[in-house]
This record gives sequence, C-alpha cells and structure tokens, in this order.
Amino acid sequence: MANFVHKFQSAIPLPLTDVVLKDVVKKAKDWAIMHGAAMRSKTKFSEDSIQFAPFVLIPSPFPKKEFYKAIEVQLFLNEMMHWVAHNPEFLLNCLKDAALSDEFTGNLYKIYRTILEEGVAQNVSLGLLRSDYMAHKDAGNRINQVELNTIASSFAGIASQFKSLNRFVLEELGHFDKVDNLPDNNALNGLCEGMLEAWKIYGKQDASILFIVEDITYNICDQRFHEFELKKLHPKMKVLRRTLTQIVSQAELTDKKELIIDNHEVAVIYFRAGYEPGHYPSQKEWEARLLMERSKAIKCPSIQYHLAGTKKVQQELARTGVVEMFLSDSYKIDAVKEIFTGLYSLDFDESGNKAVQMALDSPERFVLKPQREGGGNNVYGVDVKEAILQMKDKHERTAWILMDRINPPIISGYMVRPEGPDKPDLVDMVSELGIFGVVIGDPKSIMVNRQVGHMLRTKISTANEGGVAAGLGALDSPYLID
Ligand SMILES: Nc1ncnc2c1ncn2[C@@H]1O[C@H](COP(=O)(O)OP(=O)(O)O)[C@@H](O)[C@H]1O
Ligand SMILES: [Mg+2]
Repeated sequence: MANFVHKFQSAIPLPLTDVVLKDVVKKAKDWAIMHGAAMRSKTKFSEDSIQFAPFVLIPSPFPKKEFYKAIEVQLFLNEMMHWVAHNPEFLLNCLKDAALSDEFTGNLYKIYRTILEEGVAQNVSLGLLRSDYMAHKDAGNRINQVELNTIASSFAGIASQFKSLNRFVLEELGHFDKVDNLPDNNALNGLCEGMLEAWKIYGKQDASILFIVEDITYNICDQRFHEFELKKLHPKMKVLRRTLTQIVSQAELTDKKELIIDNHEVAVIYFRAGYEPGHYPSQKEWEARLLMERSKAIKCPSIQYHLAGTKKVQQELARTGVVEMFLSDSYKIDAVKEIFTGLYSLDFDESGNKAVQMALDSPERFVLKPQREGGGNNVYGVDVKEAILQMKDKHERTAWILMDRINPPIISGYMVRPEGPDKPDLVDMVSELGIFGVVIGDPKSIMVNRQVGHMLRTKISTANEGGVAAGLGALDSPYLID
C-alpha cells in the first residue's frame, strides 16, 4: 500500500491563541476588502458595497509534486479539449442521448447542429479553461480531476490576490520563512492576455469585448478584475457588459455577420453567464445565444467548446482508447489518464447497467452528476441510491454520469466568513485546486496553448460541495509541501 497520510500538517502550528487569532482575523478581513478579495452580499445586496469573500486564514497545505503535475498536464488538457471541440462526430454522438433527455443540453445541442449546418462564421475559438482537482487520499494523495470547465471559469481575478493575502497573514504571525512555499499566481493577467490575443486576431482596433453576465452579479470583483485588467493592457479597447436578456433587444448582425451592440462591433464574447437554465428565462435568450454563435465574434466559449466541457464528455473521455483519439504523444496521453478517476455512463447498455448496479450496491462510493454547471446539482451518499432507483428505467438516466467519489485528505484551519464570529473555530477542511489554461485555435491548428495560474477553494470536510457564494467554501492559497 502506498505511503499516504489522511491529514496534512498545517503550514504553521495551530491553534493560535485567542488574542492573536482575533487580531489577525480583523486585519485580514480589512486586507481582503481593500484588495477586492470580495463579493456582493446576498443577504444585504447593494450595488454600492462589497464584503470580503469567505477565505481561509492560514494557506492550506497541498502536495507540491501534485501541484506541478496539474500545471504540466494543463497544456495537454488544453490541446485535447481543443480537438474534442473540433470533432463534430464525437461530440454529436457522445451527447445525443443527453440532448434528448435533458432540455438544457438539448438546447445547446440544437445550436451546435444549426451552426454546423449553416457553416461557422468564425473559425477561431478562445478557451479560458479551469481544470479542478482534489488529492485522493486512497491513491497516495495523487490528484484526481473533478471536472474541467470551459465556460465562465471563475475566480482567477480574486485568486490572483490570494497569495498576497495569505502571505500577509503568515508575515503578521512572524512566519517569514514560510512565504516561499506559496507559488506565484498570475491567473488574471494570463486569462486577460488570452482575451486580448483573441481580440487582436479579430483584427479591428475599434471593436469591443463583450461580457455576458447574470442579471445580478454577486461575484462582481472577480468579473471587474478581468475588465480592469483588460483596460490596463489596452486602454482604448471598450469592454461591454450585457445580460442575455439585454442581448435579445440590443444585438444585431450585419450582412457580414458582425455582431453589433449599441453601435459597438464586438470582437470577443466572454460568457460569464449562459451555463445554467436560469440564465435563459425564455426562448428569446436562446435565440440571443444562437445569434451570437452565428456572428463572427470570437466566442469564449464557442458552442463546441461549451459542449466539450460537459460532464458527459468528461465521462466519455475516460473510456478506454478515447484520449488517444485526441492526443498522439504517449507521454501526454499517460499524463492525462493519470488524473482521471472512475467515470461511468448510465446509458442503456451493458456497461450502463453495470454502473447502475454498482451505484445501488455502494452508493457512498460515488457521486451522481447531471449535465449542469455552477454547483449544487450533484447527488451524494444515500441519495445516489434513491436517485438511481427513481430513474433507472427512464431515459432521463442517460443525461447523468456516475463518478468515483474522491476523498481528499483533511486539513485543519480557520475559515473566515462575513458575519461569522470574530474568533473562528479550528475546523476540518478539504481543498480543491483549479488550474487555468488558455487555448486559442481553429479547426486546423492551435495558435496559443498556455497554463496561466491557479486557484484553491477549501470547504468544510463534511460538506459535499463547497460553493464559495453558497457559504460552505472559502478561497485559499496552496501552501506547497513535500
Ligand atoms: N468525484 C467527486 N468526489 C468528491 N467530490 C466531488 C466529486 N465531484 C464533484 N465533487 C464536489 O462537488 C462540487 C461540484 O462538482 P463539479 O463536478 O465541480 O460540478 P459543478 O459544475 O457544479 O461545479 C465539486 O467542487 C466538489 O466539491
Ligand atoms: Mg466545479
């Protein structure tokens, strides 16, 4: 059996004394607010104020070797995902059942088919990806991929502040020698450089970048960091923000397929919304999405990149021989396969039936996932059994996938959250690492392929999911350990 630990040692000796803890929490909160490590409050929403985002006070330990493995593999994932997105036969076949049984996937699928039939106006796609991982303690703390996001990969803006926040805290506590274990993070700049390169490829000096946003944006600092960074890199370029509903009435296509919003031609569309059904209150928003897809603006993501990031595709990629369809170098293939955990289709065939039986026999070993993004949709533990029993004879089951549950090692630490106690308890937590990638290419070639930074989210160990906005998760920095 591999030599593994179930609990990582914290970066510094804990607990802190009450006096020290109270003092450093207070300072760190102000540091966070003053550096935009913040969000809008859900309970006391106001466009005039922000509050600090929940954060972990002492940076959480993460195995160094696995961190650098995730960084290296990002380039291979970017490459693979680009070719997945440009293989219509694979995508259409992989998603055809899910598109029938899940309306949301069906709507995306329909747009994709329409675009394929009509011919694409813009060959170039921009991918700002985030691959998420947890260390798996039953596998010697090796990282397993949780999912790969191809749409609205968020938190690069705030995460880029986090090294400084955690560094400030370590220094306040006198642990100057520990600071070197916090890796640099330029995720925000990397993603924005990617957007700017796409904008340059579009090739019109006076064209804008359009952010598609939610009706109400809670994660405003993260989004504005992107906007402000873009303006820093290229002050003359305009950044627009519109909801899908606003696009309905404000967008038009010229006969050359240029996308025009309020007299501004759009070079790049950056979707920070559009990944969940709630973002499309009516058929009109779907028409707006199609209109944008039809345009020659460079989309992040294009419809094919969006579909390539679905959980069904992730599961298909884990089937024997599938990674090999998209990567040719055996080193890259092995590296990608190494981060996969068990993923199982629930199709109506022999392997799907086997997966159904496995889930019924030991539901606690699995997570059941629908074709959704944005947190809070998965099924865990005993509920897996319930859900499977309920859907096992229905076509609906083909829109779900089953995944081995990853059990990350426990970390001890303090979570600081708005309206929380001024002296937080020492709690057991687990972390999820995200690595950001930028890929730009067309059906024939890849022009840009980069790994640009990371983010760490940490949640209470007993929580199934750690949505930062939902309140169970907190932003963090990896403290690299041997
Ligand atoms: N295989 C897994 N094992 C353990 N936890 C998981 C697993 N898959 C997902 N989770 C938890 O659920 C959360 C949401 O799942 P994810 O696949 O990332 O979907 P979403 O698109 O909603 O973010 C993850 O951030 C993680 O905390
Ligand atoms: Mg996720």
